[in-house]
Amino acid sequence: MLALIRAEAHADIGSDHAKLPIRLIQSGRAGRCVVVELNPGPLELARRNVTRARLEGHIEVRAGDGFAPLAPGEVDSASVSGMGAGTVAGILRRAGERLPPALVVQPNDSPWPVRVWAREQGYHLAAERLIPGYWPYPVLRLERRDGPDPVYADAGLPLNAALRYGPHLLREGSGVLRGQVQADLTRLTPLAAPGRTAQTELETARAAWDLLQP
Ligand SMILES: C[S@@+](CC[C@H](N)C(=O)[O-])C[C@H]1O[C@@H](n2cnc3c(N)ncnc32)[C@H](O)[C@@H]1O
Repeated sequence: MLALIRAEAHADIGSDHAKLPIRLIQSGRAGRCVVVELNPGPLELARRNVTRARLEGHIEVRAGDGFAPLAPGEVDSASVSGMGAGTVAGILRRAGERLPPALVVQPNDSPWPVRVWAREQGYHLAAERLIPGYWPYPVLRLERRDGPDPVYADAGLPLNAALRYGPHLLREGSGVLRGQVQADLTRLTPLAAPGRTAQTELETARAAWDLLQP
């Protein structure tokens, strides 16, 4: 995530331990950070870690829901990570005029709802990564730009596969993505039947697999 963030002022929404903003300041990738946390336990942990790192002058910890504790235009970028994609998309939907021009998001499951939201709201997919771990973690950098996102314009790229697996990631065709699509094919094949969600998901995985062939 760190590599996709560079900002004068950055907000980390749902920060928990505040490790990301601490590393952003220590590495010089952000000049100032705002930590937003909804729950008292993680909020206290964030405050403790920021104090322990002696970064109170650079990181402000605020209690609140999503982008609500931020003023419009206060930060140039924000991250939302480590939550389900539906939760991430809900936080982005509720943010309204508080949304900064750049967003870095790392949902824990399929980023489909985030990519759909971004296409509708004028955010282009500037970069995507798929980080290997307990499962493959998708990281998306979104930037507010005019017009439709050109990354989806390629007629050879089926939209369902692009929204599920990522247009940049499909073009790159990394081993991590191949492993993820292969695992989906194995998991979905016995579950698929006409009219079932698994059938649609399987067709999407097959479309992605076809694209990944040399
Ligand atoms: C699983 S942790 C992820 C922590 C960190 N972002 C990471 O990636 O390691 C999710 C955190 O988001 C917080 N959270 C969930 N919904 C939130 C919301 N609407 N606004 C602010 N914080 C929220 C939770 O309290 C929790 O601390």
